[in-house]
Parts: sequence; C-alpha cells; structure tokens
Amino acid sequence: MLNALVKCSKCEENFTADIALTVCPKCEGALLFNYDLTSIAERIPKNTLAKSKNTFWKFLDLLPLSSPKNIVSLGEPYTPVLRLSKSRSCNFKNVYIKDDGRLPTGTFKARGMAVAVSCLKELGIKLVAMPSAGNAAAALAAYGAKAGMGVYVFMPKDVPESNLKECAFADAEVYLVNGLINDAARIVKNLEQKYRWFDISTNKQPYRFEGYKAMAFEIAEQFGWDLPDGIVFPTGGGEGVIGLWKGFKELRRLGWTEKIPRLIVVQSSGCAPFVKAYERNQSEIEEAWKNAETIAAGLRVPQPYASYLTLRAIKETEGMAVAVEDEEIISSMKILFKEGIYACPEAASTLTALERIGNEGLIHTDAKLLLYLTGSAMKYFDVIEIKKEIKILEKDVTSL
Ligand SMILES: Cc1ncc(COP(=O)(O)O)c(C=O)c1O
Ligand SMILES: [Zn+2]
Repeated sequence: MLNALVKCSKCEENFTADIALTVCPKCEGALLFNYDLTSIAERIPKNTLAKSKNTFWKFLDLLPLSSPKNIVSLGEPYTPVLRLSKSRSCNFKNVYIKDDGRLPTGTFKARGMAVAVSCLKELGIKLVAMPSAGNAAAALAAYGAKAGMGVYVFMPKDVPESNLKECAFADAEVYLVNGLINDAARIVKNLEQKYRWFDISTNKQPYRFEGYKAMAFEIAEQFGWDLPDGIVFPTGGGEGVIGLWKGFKELRRLGWTEKIPRLIVVQSSGCAPFVKAYERNQSEIEEAWKNAETIAAGLRVPQPYASYLTLRAIKETEGMAVAVEDEEIISSMKILFKEGIYACPEAASTLTALERIGNEGLIHTDAKLLLYLTGSAMKYFDVIEIKKEIKILEKDVTSL
C-alpha cells in the first residue's frame, strides 16, 4: 500500500506505510506522511487538476491511498468560500469565510474521517475505536458504517445530544464517560489491545491529517492559488491546524503556491491550553487545562496529544493563538446566523477572534483573511439556550 513513507515528527525516523500505523514506536511522536513531491509535480501539472470535479478526492496522488477503489465517500463537495459583508469584517478589508458545515455529518471532521477510514479499509482494518468531543465520533460513525466497520466511540457524558444520537443512529457502539476527552482517551488506550480495535484518536495516527490537509488544497484552488494572508481556525486537538499547515507546505514544495498563510488558532477562554502555551512561548502544552468548560464542545481538549506540532505550526507560520469568551461566541454565532451562515460555536469563535485581532491591531487591516467555519449550527440547538418566551396557543386563539 501507499507509495509514501511515514516520518516521525519528533525523532524523524522513517517507516513504511504497508501496515496500519499509530504513533512512533520509538518515541511516541506523531507520524506524518512524506511524499516524493518532486516526482508528483512532474507528473501532474496543477492546471490538469483544476479541470477535475470539485471534490478533494481529485488530489488522490497527494493522499495515502494506493487505489481509488478503496475510497469511502459520502459525497464530499468543495465547501463554499464567501466574502463576509463589510459591516461584519471588523475594519478588515478582505475577510472570507469557508463553510465546512456543508460537508457530510455537518463538520470538517468528515475530511479527516473520509481519508482515514479509506486508508484503514485498504489496510484491512475492521474495528475502529476513538475518544471524541462529539463531531469526530459522528463522522467516524458515518464513514465507518459506510465502510462496514465496527465503530466504538467514547465521549464525555455531556456531549451535545445530536452527536450522541448521530453515532447511535449509525449503529456505532457508544460509551459516555464520566469525564472529558482525555479520560475517554485513556479508556480506549487501555482496552484497544483486548478488543483488537484500531485506535483512530486525534493526532495518534497519520491518516486523519491527510484529510485535513485537503482544506489547504481546496483553499488554494478557490483563491486562484493566491492564498489568504491568514486563516483563523478554531482549535481543540490541533489536527485541523496541523493538516492545514502540512497541506500548505506540500503545495509550496510542489511549486504550486508561494506563501504559507499565518495560522491563527482560536480557543475558548474556558479551555485554552494552546493560548497559554503560545503566550509563554512553550513548545509543548505542559499540563492539562483544569476544569475545562465551554459551549464549543470541540474546543474542550485539556491536553491534546502531540501539542508540539500545533505550536510549531503557529510559530513557523508567524501565527498566533487567541482566547475568546463563550458569551462572545454566542453573539458571533447569532450575527452569522442572521447573515444566513449557520456556524456552530467553534466556527463562530473565529468571528470573535477577528474582532479581537482587529481591535488590538495584531494584523494589518489590508490583510486577506479567511475565517474557517468548521461546522454547522444545526448540530448544537440542544445546547443553545433560547431566552425568548415561546407561547403555546389554543386552537381557537383570536389575538396574541
Ligand atoms: C466543529 C469543530 N470545530 C473545531 C474543532 C477543533 O478541531 P481540532 O481538534 O482539529 O483542533 C472541533 C473538534 O472536535 C470541532 O468539532
Ligand atoms: Zn519518533
């Protein structure tokens, strides 16, 4: 399988990709696929790709699958890029949004799972298990079901109800944990050998990054290969940001683009370990965030695995990390909602971050910025409090 090598992001040891891989067996660092981009660039001019159908599968030569027949797809379209209206752009002149709420299962997690489940199918994996804050589990349940795999998901017991129901409805085995995602991760780690599950946890295998890196390819093409100056991205485990960074680096090595956008990580102030590490100039998150609490469930990751990679992505791209309050997130969600943009709390946090960046003058207002909307509001109505009074009417009511 897979005509690429896999390299440890910590000790730099290389591995072949013909068996299902998790973390580096030598140092437990995160593994990343490494392609022969020179030969790919010679074989495929970027113009030929532009003519193919708009789905990230057209970048198959840059994905770790040896045969298209193993693709497990639920019909992933290019997601729309729209210009944000001037009145919402917080004095910035060029702000765009990209809406991944339009993907199967309603979040960008579909990208990682589509590619990971396809790779694991090719490698003969039949049972997959994973801790999740919710949306990744929903995506795994959907793609795993399509691939005919047994899916075991472990989520905090206060996970948004829609996530729980999505998983159960797709016939995944669902376990709720009296704790957070890190506690769920420990359970999966302890049981994976006993039950012969492949552990598809965030950052603990090289496959999901490959799906997220397609965000970079899609953005590049949608922006006419003239990339945004910065991308504001809601971050929990960091896999999305790592994928973006990897994708942009590959595009540059292919000679298809020049710059790499600044990666601007957004977290909720109720769980902001990346922001804390960034502000202290640390290369790794040193301790788990205590009493993590936020409405943006996907950002509630107290101590992500391989946090050094996300921090490296921020540093190398001259990015930054900002924390925003939950209340501000809800206001941003409402602002976007009234523009017809159904952004979930994680996604809406990017608009609050934009305001912060603008107010504090952290980035020049001429910069071309992209807010990455990672999911749809439709998945979160069970956790959103509606303060309006809703009346129930008798059938013969004549006035309100
Ligand atoms: C909607 C949404 N946005 C953002 C994130 C954060 O993504 P990552 O864990 O890749 O940092 C998540 C994670 O679950 C999510 O569900
Ligand atoms: Zn290693």
